Amino acid sequence: MIKVFEVNITHQVSDYLNDILKNIVSIEKANQKMHEAFGFIHFFDNVEDLQILKETILSSQNIVSEPDRAEYGDFQTNTVLAKKIAFNLTTKNISPEIVIEPTCGKGNFIIACLEQFTGIKKVFGIEIYKSYVWESKFNIINFYLSNPTKNKPEISIIHSSVFDFNFKSILKEDSTKEILIIGNPPWVTNSKLGSLNSSNLPKKTNFKNHSGLDAMTGKGNFDIAEYITLMMIETFQHQKGNIALLVKNTVIKNIVFDQLVKKYAVSDIEKHCIDSKKEFNVSVEAALFCCKLNSNPSFNCTEFDFYNNSTAKVNFGWLANKFVSNLDTYSNVERIDGQCPFEWRQGIKHDCSSIMELDKVNEHFVNGLKEEIKLENDLVYGMLKSSDLKNTVIKETRKYTIVTQKKVGQETNYIKYDFPKTYKYLSKHENVFNSRKSSIYNNKPPFSIFGIGDYSFKPYKVAISGLYKTFHFTLVLPQDEKPVMLDDTCYMLGFDNLEFAVYSLILLNSQTTVRFLQSITFSDAKRTFTKDVLMRIDLLKLAQIIDKSELQKELNYINETYNFNLTLVYWCEFINKMSPIENRQTQLFA
Ligand SMILES: C[S@@+](CC[C@H](N)C(=O)[O-])C[C@H]1O[C@@H](n2cnc3c(N)ncnc32)[C@H](O)[C@@H]1O
Repeated sequence: MIKVFEVNITHQVSDYLNDILKNIVSIEKANQKMHEAFGFIHFFDNVEDLQILKETILSSQNIVSEPDRAEYGDFQTNTVLAKKIAFNLTTKNISPEIVIEPTCGKGNFIIACLEQFTGIKKVFGIEIYKSYVWESKFNIINFYLSNPTKNKPEISIIHSSVFDFNFKSILKEDSTKEILIIGNPPWVTNSKLGSLNSSNLPKKTNFKNHSGLDAMTGKGNFDIAEYITLMMIETFQHQKGNIALLVKNTVIKNIVFDQLVKKYAVSDIEKHCIDSKKEFNVSVEAALFCCKLNSNPSFNCTEFDFYNNSTAKVNFGWLANKFVSNLDTYSNVERIDGQCPFEWRQGIKHDCSSIMELDKVNEHFVNGLKEEIKLENDLVYGMLKSSDLKNTVIKETRKYTIVTQKKVGQETNYIKYDFPKTYKYLSKHENVFNSRKSSIYNNKPPFSIFGIGDYSFKPYKVAISGLYKTFHFTLVLPQDEKPVMLDDTCYMLGFDNLEFAVYSLILLNSQTTVRFLQSITFSDAKRTFTKDVLMRIDLLKLAQIIDKSELQKELNYINETYNFNLTLVYWCEFINKMSPIENRQTQLFA
């Protein structure tokens, strides 16, 4: 192997190039040779490249260290996987005349296509990293030297950012030909690029029209692969052909989700799950996204195991205006898909756990810096995190937190006068508060927190972890006559009376709710449960359809296990509270 343009090339390729280029000085002549031999269009962009290549091939080793490529989401597809993907496409009778690899890297997909598809007339590979442009070219030469009889289409490997390349120019020339867009666009999010100060982004970065707040809370975070995939769909949706791109599962989910509004002319949307640990040595759920272009819009996606393609695992997507993770199981529980009459809330956010999260050791509070601290009890509340929500009923907390505000934005001056020890402690660590990264804390009173309101001070709560995949809700009881707080990984409903909380708990832990949640949540989502998901549980409908004997049985069980003495006397009141105002029974008629 020798290294040229930071790329390893085999002796087979370097010997060959040396042979045909040694007497050539003009770029036109060199490019003509490469076109005749392998179909390349503009193999050399300029004379310098030709010179460098010749000189390097003539000299010996040229070792250059690998640069940091984090901002390019660089995970090259191995040749075995690329070949298997191309082969699988042939089994679906896909036979492209034009192949487009939007971010071709070292060209493994292009070679897999050259090997598998016999009818290709043109290939376009685009890549931002010059060394990979060369590597693709060398790999293609190597492929043809080893397979001299293979079909040789026109090949353009273009050094450009995918965001600058004019894909419409391909459309203009070949609008009737069958195309295949294949590849593995960069695995990097816009927020990661932001943290790397990278400009490897499309020009209009707010392409999903998220608000500034969404961007701050992470909702506006997107994978640039999603942008590239949508760009391909948007440009080529009315051209005969197919798309096959390796992307994160969330990208596929988002594309199917957006289909309701976008209605792109794509159908046969499929997700073929791969083992990313094995293929790329990363722990990210990813799959091959496939769809057929130029067809009536489809709103669902069928999921397969890439390695065992025979049977579909699940079908997800839209059923009328409901987005569902498993269309088959959903049909049995569809009737509780509505609007929760109570508002689900996220727990407290402070981004300052070392100061705000406390343990109690021998009647003293100890913070995350292992400092023993003295505080008035007033602003200290018991606190639960996702990992604490394992049991059905919780009466005691392992951790405590300082609640500095009763609602978002409230002035915090009062702490100085009413709770001097707490104020002293918080002030001592003011720098930790001030160095919180999220801009939600900008221009807010000192020691501000979020996810706080009247609801946080409700004595009885029903809670679930947003992070865990356990479909189990927990009843949280007050501790030392104070409400218990939840952290921002949890979601909760707050109640003033125990009965309503327990009735809700029973409904939420019923088999119907479990099945419903299983049919609308995605196991690969960062947060299985979000406010949007939980708000879909129509608690009133559940209360109306639950078998009363089942309800009584569950209540008895809770009474026995947790030493309560609850009855169903408030059940009608509970139903009434959940009913829309116009349907409520007034006391007069009750
Ligand atoms: C996940 S790798 C996959 C490479 C190749 N498609 C494959 O499957 O082996 C992503 C590739 O995108 C390239 N890339 C990143 N940003 C790009 C951009 N803006 N334009 C074109 N290529 C880009 C990277 O250099 C890298 O080669």
